[in-house]
Amino acid sequence: MKFILPLVGTLLCSMTCTASSIFTKTYKSPLGVPLEGPPIYISKKIHDTKSIEFVEHSSYPPWLGLELDYAYVKPIVDAINSTETPLLTRGESHITIVTPPEFDTLAVAGVTIEEINAIAREQRIQESKFDIVCLGKAELVQDGKNYIVYQIIVESPSLVKLREKIFTLYYSKGGNTALFDPRTFWSHITVAYTISDLFVDQGIYKSANVCHRPLIAH
Ligand SMILES: *[C@@H]1O[C@H](CO)[C@@H](O)[C@H](O)[C@H]1NC(C)=O
Repeated sequence: MKFILPLVGTLLCSMTCTASSIFTKTYKSPLGVPLEGPPIYISKKIHDTKSIEFVEHSSYPPWLGLELDYAYVKPIVDAINSTETPLLTRGESHITIVTPPEFDTLAVAGVTIEEINAIAREQRIQESKFDIVCLGKAELVQDGKNYIVYQIIVESPSLVKLREKIFTLYYSKGGNTALFDPRTFWSHITVAYTISDLFVDQGIYKSANVCHRPLIAH
């Protein structure tokens, strides 16, 4: 029996070798972890955020985000959703720049969400550039339930720069610089999840460490 599968594979390959070699091409994450293929594609229009209006999140809990067009994220949801593991979404997309727990830290020094929003507008937040790293998958089993969260892992020096501007304000107001690191930043776009999102407070780090599938903007 053991030799039958490779034999079938070879026969298939001789017929449809191009498709087969695309399928078996192995992709690796920036950390050298093999990724599941085939790649998923996303419209490069996901980067055109300039004409999207900045959305303030001032009511409790306040946070700062770069607003994105969910229309370009939806096809990824459809590509990874299945009846076996049905996924939920929020029907919107953004990149969180200052999380609610980080805001609480900044607020101790008297930094307000209005000041953060003003810096964001000044820095033209909606014109920020970001690079797509991969499609990430973070998993956690808790109380017998399987939490799975998919996200687009992104890298963005311009968003780090925006966080550094906020850090400068925090410092100028006497904030404890040990409690807010503008460069410790796991930028991502939440795509979908099985039960609920997972956060850093749960010990979940969303960066190249969770790369799961190649994601190519075209
Ligand atoms: C995912 O698939 C399930 C089952 O087909 C469906 O009920 C659900 O609405 C889908 N989720 C999304 C976000 O489209």
